[in-house]
Amino acid sequence: MSKRFKAGPDILSRIHLAVAPGELVALVGASGCGKTTLLRMVAGLESTSDGTVEVLGTTAAKACALRQVGVAFQRAALVPSRTAVENVQLTLTITGKSSGHDPAQLLREFGLGDHLNAYPHQLSGGMQQRVNIAAALVHQPQILLLDEPLGALDEITRESMTEWLAGVLGRTRPTTLLVTHSVEEAVVLADRVVILSRYPGQIAYDLSVDLPRPRDIWGKPSEEFQATVRRVRSHLHAVLRATGL
Ligand SMILES: Nc1ncnc2c1ncn2[C@@H]1O[C@H](COP(=O)(O)OP(=O)(O)OP(=O)(O)O)[C@@H](O)[C@H]1O
Ligand SMILES: [Mg+2]
Repeated sequence: MSKRFKAGPDILSRIHLAVAPGELVALVGASGCGKTTLLRMVAGLESTSDGTVEVLGTTAAKACALRQVGVAFQRAALVPSRTAVENVQLTLTITGKSSGHDPAQLLREFGLGDHLNAYPHQLSGGMQQRVNIAAALVHQPQILLLDEPLGALDEITRESMTEWLAGVLGRTRPTTLLVTHSVEEAVVLADRVVILSRYPGQIAYDLSVDLPRPRDIWGKPSEEFQATVRRVRSHLHAVLRATGL
């Protein structure tokens, strides 16, 4: 599919991307290459200009209406007047799904057992992002769209959150598209790393990550892990150089 806004140039051009059930694909690329737009199209929030987006055998908008898609964006979208557990509960109320995880239990698993009744302003940035991610997956969607869910965190918090996210996604295995600016994060989490070029956004590389899990970056990262990070980074840099950055 391709995407342009009004009479403007193609933002995304001839994107052909298939994601298998349970697969986690990381999308990386320069700022402005169309990653968020791509995610919004898969979420049914934005239409295509050419071609189609198919989600679970139907249109993106229908799949979203069936509440099969969970979305978490970079900034935690929490309701300030509701507690952590109430924010997660809200997804179940909105989607009308009572069969998902128990919000309190999920937050306990996410290490927030002592903060169930805290309001967003009483939580740290990393805690808010965990609540945000919990709210995206509490109703057990088949598809999960994460747009820089760990953005705006310091490096140490980000590393521990990456490990935590790897654990959560490893257990529940939703089909996931993850946008990130961190090559390490992509290599820890993903089955494939898709690198987008820009002006227009096109798939420049689609690299598979064949590393055993769990992929520990805390201890001593394996030679294989480091080699994969180097491989992805060199492809990414080649794409960035080619588009003038
Ligand atoms: N509603 C819109 N109307 C017009 N142009 C838009 C609209 N939404 C996005 N764009 C343009 O599309 C391009 C891609 O934007 P997008 O937000 O998808 O990039 P991104 O890859 O997510 O960037 P970042 O890494 O900075 O988040 C940008 O040039 C942006 O200006
Ligand atoms: Mg974006």
